[in-house]
Amino acid sequence: MTIKSPLPIEEVLDTLLKTEYIQKYLMHLDSCDPETRAHSVRVAQLATDMGIEEGLDYRALKTLCLAALLHDIGKVDVDQELLHAPRKLTQEEKKVVDRHTIHGARKIQGRRFKKVREIVRRHHDYQKGKKVTSEMREKGSIAHLTEIVAAADVFDALCSVRPYKEALAKREVAHIMVSEFTGSSTLILLALKRY
Ligand SMILES: [Fe+2]
Ligand SMILES: [Fe+2]
Repeated sequence: MTIKSPLPIEEVLDTLLKTEYIQKYLMHLDSCDPETRAHSVRVAQLATDMGIEEGLDYRALKTLCLAALLHDIGKVDVDQELLHAPRKLTQEEKKVVDRHTIHGARKIQGRRFKKVREIVRRHHDYQKGKKVTSEMREKGSIAHLTEIVAAADVFDALCSVRPYKEALAKREVAHIMVSEFTGSSTLILLALKRY
């Protein structure tokens, strides 16, 4: 799968990847979990690209890209054996892994990262079974940016090889996104366009 980008997104992503504190976070993630690091960069690339199509301004794009880069940072605090178990997890185990959203939000400190922290905390809220569904949201708001990160995250997870699954074909990805992702269908279409 290659991401087809209608506009250059390197300007946003490259700047952030060269920032010292981002490098520190990503190096830490890489040392614990290189697979999640690679996933985080792909999600950032895709989310930023979708954000451009959603008409976000540069400031919102930077927040979006940063949140996407850091969305799974809390996985460093999850038992790595559980995280990479080559099988489907039980409901209890899944709850333990899902706590990476809380661990991640806790790691991101400082008032200027308030939005990023909130997006990291909420990035799994658009999964079936969670209470949140697509909200009436303002362009560039936390809810809007969270929904974009969530769509890019699910899309990349479905398109990637994981210890317990192969990468899925576009048809299957579309089917699962429609039935499991409770966010906006426009975002599903934006993600699928890039398959
Ligand atoms: Fe996650
Ligand atoms: Fe993720």
